[in-house]
Amino acid sequence: MYKAVLVLAILVSASLAVHIPLTQRTVSKFEIDAKRSYLQSSEFQDEMEAALRANDEHTLLPIKDYTDTQYVAEVTLGSPPQSFMVVPDTGSSDLWVYSSSCYFSISCYLHNYYKHKRSDTYHKNGKHFRLGYGSGSASGHWSNDDVNFAGLEAEDFRFGEVTSVMGLAFIMGHLDGILGLAFDTISTDNFPTFFEAADIEDRSFSFKLGHVDEDSFLVAPGVDEDLFTGDLQYHDVIEEKYWSLNMTNIKVGGTSMEGASNYKGVIDSGTSLIVGDKKLIDPILKQIGDIDQSCKDLSGHPDVTIVFDSVEYTLTPEDYIVRVKSFLGEACVSGFMSANFASGFPYLIIGDVFMRKYYSHFNMNDKTVGFALANHE
Ligand SMILES: *[C@@H]1O[C@H](CO)[C@@H](O)[C@H](O)[C@H]1NC(C)=O
Repeated sequence: MYKAVLVLAILVSASLAVHIPLTQRTVSKFEIDAKRSYLQSSEFQDEMEAALRANDEHTLLPIKDYTDTQYVAEVTLGSPPQSFMVVPDTGSSDLWVYSSSCYFSISCYLHNYYKHKRSDTYHKNGKHFRLGYGSGSASGHWSNDDVNFAGLEAEDFRFGEVTSVMGLAFIMGHLDGILGLAFDTISTDNFPTFFEAADIEDRSFSFKLGHVDEDSFLVAPGVDEDLFTGDLQYHDVIEEKYWSLNMTNIKVGGTSMEGASNYKGVIDSGTSLIVGDKKLIDPILKQIGDIDQSCKDLSGHPDVTIVFDSVEYTLTPEDYIVRVKSFLGEACVSGFMSANFASGFPYLIIGDVFMRKYYSHFNMNDKTVGFALANHE
């Protein structure tokens, strides 16, 4: 009897799961290079040290830079619904969009912006916020309205209306905002995140990131078994801020990288590459060897294996060498990026490069992340 009920429950939840199409933008070599030199600068390190000292809860934000973020999805706010293309970001926990009362920042005019006067379900909050990200910052005030994402609704949900933007980052990105999908421990004032506030029982979602739009989805709630092969392997979240996993080793061409287990692996859909402390990444880059930027000869590079608990996830050169736009057409860059992280920032940020290969199920019900080989068209 129990079994029958369980099967039925799974069938029902499978049929309710919605596929949100993800739209991709091409990252340019210019953006990647700009990000690399920023992450390797001493300014960045100082900024990060300061952020760590000031507020331990938002320490990942200084390294976030949405210029290189590739995937965006639609969210609607208000009644009647106003539409925004936001980054579904498992590496942060607030929702914000541009505001119609943003007058002096060019980027506000280049995106969709929220008009509270046109929404019957708007409620004023008015409290101010400031968010610091990678090479810029955004400030504004909080508001409440009904938010719809993935066919799920959070009524009277608190979100940020951005009224001022500093830094080029936000102008270039083709995004109208960010939808944070990490834990409320790192949301501003620990407010519930969208998935905590939404009217659902199964607080879980999954990503299938493809190389083209038609092949890229966020599935919510739950998973779509047609999008991956084999069983999902689940790993406990070992720290409920980001989706942090127990990274026990990294092997490059069979050689274990010393000290890898001192870092937690953060699965971050809002970062394109795999970004880590130079002490960890530089030896990996050295083992990988120089990558031919013209993409002509990509042979001779080793596989890189990331181990969570005791499960191995292998990226071949084909997986971790990223093709980007450049002045000369296509360029090839390494999917691993080294940064001057502040001491005491023990994370490896594992972004889309990894998630394209491995279908990823983020489960807030039991605080786990599951991976399986993604099916690519
Ligand atoms: C991490 O994984 C290893 C290998 O499975 C295990 O021995 C260790 O206890 C795990 N650590 C945590 C914090 O879960």
